[in-house]
Amino acid sequence: MPLVTVKELLDNAEKGGYAVGAFNCNNMEIVQAIVAAAEAENAPVIIQASQGAIKYAGLEYIVALVNISAKNTKVPVALHLDHGTNFDQVIQCIRYGFTSVMIDGSKYSLEDNIILTKKVVEIAKAVGVSTEAELGKIGGTEDDISVSDKDAMMTDPKDVEYFVEQTAVDALAVAIGTAHGQYKFEPKLDFDRLAKIRELVDIPIVLHGSSGVPDKDIQKAITLGVRKVNIDTNIREAFVRGVREAVKDPKEIDPRKILGPARVQMTEIVREKIRIFGSSGKA
Ligand code: G3H
Ligand code: 13P
Ligand code: ZN
Repeated sequence: MPLVTVKELLDNAEKGGYAVGAFNCNNMEIVQAIVAAAEAENAPVIIQASQGAIKYAGLEYIVALVNISAKNTKVPVALHLDHGTNFDQVIQCIRYGFTSVMIDGSKYSLEDNIILTKKVVEIAKAVGVSTEAELGKIGGTEDDISVSDKDAMMTDPKDVEYFVEQTAVDALAVAIGTAHGQYKFEPKLDFDRLAKIRELVDIPIVLHGSSGVPDKDIQKAITLGVRKVNIDTNIREAFVRGVREAVKDPKEIDPRKILGPARVQMTEIVREKIRIFGSSGKA
C-alpha cells in the first residue's frame, strides 16, 4: 500500500495506548528487515532516515527502497526524516515523497526554534505531510556532559505549551534523560518531567535514543504519552552481530551470505521492539 503519514499512525497509537517503532535505515537490508519484522508482527511501522543515512545512501535511494517495500506489504509504513536540520533539505524530502519530517531546531533559542519549526509546519501541512520538532536537547552518549549541563538540556515543561501552540507541530521529541548511541551506564529517565509535559499538551511525544533503555522504562514512558519510539543503535548492533558471525569463516566471500544473516538478526530485534512498544497486531 502507499506510504502513510506518521500523524495517522500516532493518532491510532494514541487511541490504542501504544507506541509505534521508528527505525533508522541506511541500506536495502535494513529497510527489508524493518518491513519483514512489521509484517511478521502485523504492526504499523515508521522507517526513518537521518542526516548520516542521506549522506551515505542518497535521498533517492532511500525513497525508492522504502516505497518498494511499502508497495509490497499490507502493513502501514511511513517514511520520516529524522533530525532534519536544514529547511531546504526538509522541503526536498517532502518533494521526494517523505510522508513526515522532523525539523530539529533544538540547537537554537526557543524563539528561533519556533520560527524554523513554524515555517516547516506551515508548508508540510499544506501538502499533507506530518511534522515532528524537538524541544530541549537530546545529546549523544559520547558527549562529555556534566550532570548540571545534562539537566539544563532537558525539556523545560514551562516552554512546552507555548511551543506547541505557536508551531502547531504534530509530534514533539523531548529530552528526558535519553541519549543517542550505546549507553555507558543505564539511563535514568525523568518520568516526572514527562508526566508534567503531557499534562500541558496532548500531542504525541517522541522518545529518541531509545536503544539500551530498559524495556520497563520504555513501557512506563508509553503509559505517560510516548507514541513514537526511535531505535537506531540496536539495529546497528544486530547488523554487526550477523556480519561478525558470518565472516568467522575466512572462506566466506559471498556478500549475500554475510548480509543475509545480518538481515535476519535485524528482523529479530525489530520484532522484539515492536512487541515491547505494544504495536504488535495493530496494523
Ligand atoms: O539520531 C541519530 C541517529 O542514530 C542517526 O545517526 O546520522 O549517524 O545516521 P547518523
Ligand atoms: P538510538 O541510536 O540511541 O537508538 O537513537 C535513535 C534515535 O533517536 C534516532 O533519532
Ligand atoms: Zn534522535
